[in-house]
Amino acid sequence: MPTIKIDGREIPFESGDTIIRAAHRAGIDIPHYCWHPGLSVAANCRMCLVEVLPPPGRPAMSLDILRWDAAKQDYVPAAKPKLQPACQMACASGMEVLSDNSDHVSEARSAVQELLLLNHPVDCPICDQAGECRLQDYWLEHQRKGKRMRQEPVHKPKAVTFGPTIVYDAERCIVCTRCIRVCNELARDPVLSVRERGNLGEITVSPGRELDHNYTLMTEHVCPVGALTSRDFRFKARVWFLRSARTVCQGCATGCNAYLDYDPRNNTPYRHRPRENMAVNTYWMCDEGMLSYRHAVEGRLLTALVGNDDASLDDALAAAKEQLAGHGDDPSKVAIVLSAQHSNEDNFALYHLATTYLGATDFFVSGKPLGEGDDILISEDKNPNTRGAVQIAAATPPRPVAELLQGIASGHYAYVVALGSDLEVDAGEAQRAFSRLKGVVTIAAHEGPLAKAARVALPACSWAEAEGTYVNGKGLAQRSERALLPHGDARPAWELIGRLGRALGYETGWKTLAELRRAMPPGAALGGAAGAAAPAAALGAAPAVADGARVEPKKTEATA
Ligand code: SF4
Ligand code: SF4
Ligand code: FES
Repeated sequence: MPTIKIDGREIPFESGDTIIRAAHRAGIDIPHYCWHPGLSVAANCRMCLVEVLPPPGRPAMSLDILRWDAAKQDYVPAAKPKLQPACQMACASGMEVLSDNSDHVSEARSAVQELLLLNHPVDCPICDQAGECRLQDYWLEHQRKGKRMRQEPVHKPKAVTFGPTIVYDAERCIVCTRCIRVCNELARDPVLSVRERGNLGEITVSPGRELDHNYTLMTEHVCPVGALTSRDFRFKARVWFLRSARTVCQGCATGCNAYLDYDPRNNTPYRHRPRENMAVNTYWMCDEGMLSYRHAVEGRLLTALVGNDDASLDDALAAAKEQLAGHGDDPSKVAIVLSAQHSNEDNFALYHLATTYLGATDFFVSGKPLGEGDDILISEDKNPNTRGAVQIAAATPPRPVAELLQGIASGHYAYVVALGSDLEVDAGEAQRAFSRLKGVVTIAAHEGPLAKAARVALPACSWAEAEGTYVNGKGLAQRSERALLPHGDARPAWELIGRLGRALGYETGWKTLAELRRAMPPGAALGGAAGAAAPAAALGAAPAVADGARVEPKKTEATA
């Protein structure tokens, strides 16, 4: 593989690579604002300037300049090398680049920073980007001095509503055009453009339009400064108080990799951010997925219910035992509903209890009904683990819930034990059907038609409160970390299923997540790096990620 040298370090590059892309892949950070690995090159911020040494025997390209001579108190003629934007300059074999080891580059980066901050309002203390703003970070790394301009800065519109999700502050904008390129290239909706030039430049929405496509929060997310802010997140939290867990979005079968940012002091989630995974979502998430962090705590079933009345967990388990009394007389009368909304671990726990102890042979899968998809990221299947649930029960292929209702109507079933709260069939019809049964027990994280139809409902952890493995629509198994402590009386669904089994008199053999995972088929509980994608069919046992592994939140990491 051909190589280039950056500050004396030899790194490989691929055909067509720019200097910054090769550096980025090798873990070398070249400062940048307008470049983003998922977008086309604009090369308009000039923060990535580097010095490219001339080939051996060739003179360096230089520019004549005037430099201030403090002794003479005058400008004197001087020369400096012509610097190159690393985001635009293609790699060539044997090329030598100076990034951190060049005084000319340091001077240029400092000058670019000073220029960008000339008209920038120094409102960092009230800016929502504080703590993760490239202007702050790069000022400290590359400038570290006050601006020399004494005139009144140029003032521009502030807090302009761009659409239902985004607010724009033109004074903070450095016109890097990342937001325009996300609209054009990711969302394929060219709704933003630049108006005016120089220090009058600002971003504007097309006349008669709003910024309202399905990827508006990505448009905000890529803004390297505080010019675009999310109406959902602004003024709600300071990022230095937040922690991040590596999760898998639950919004649809795509299974985008995400960071769930939460405040451990109040056990509250504040936002979802995309986490790079080139095999799944590259750098992006859709709006629905980014806002779906709310479901970690909203609409939850927080206490056990017996006949729709709150109950303690022990009382509910005793009631579940009563509900299911007689299930052993004829196991063919027991129907099991797995959930496309729950993890492999939860589904396996129920499948294991059903096949090993209850003697059930009839399995169904429930979940959210199909919705709209697109050819960018969004899947029509609005469940994160349809494939995982189906694979868990592959030996007894699970059927749609509509067939369960038919089975109940024909008197075939007398008992249902179900996971999840969502149903893709009419809720009223399901409720009427379930009311004919002798026993209905549900283990659910959220309120919903299935939880409502149950006589006994046990409160399960939401995905954000329990570690789990999910298999996306393409068959990639991915692990999601726990972020929050369980709310209310919630416990992991697999744990509640174990307790239900013990209440019925069975020793399920697993009391901890590790024990459960050891009982699972090889690979169904994904180990290794959280969120690492692996084909579900080829899952191999791998070391588990330590519980509680955390990364610091940082919206403006190299790829954001
Ligand atoms: S709003 Fe943000 S992303 Fe868009 S041009 Fe301005 S600084 Fe760049
Ligand atoms: S495409 Fe699906 S998985 Fe990805 S962010 Fe959107 S809802 Fe979540
Ligand atoms: S990152 Fe290269 S010019 Fe902006």
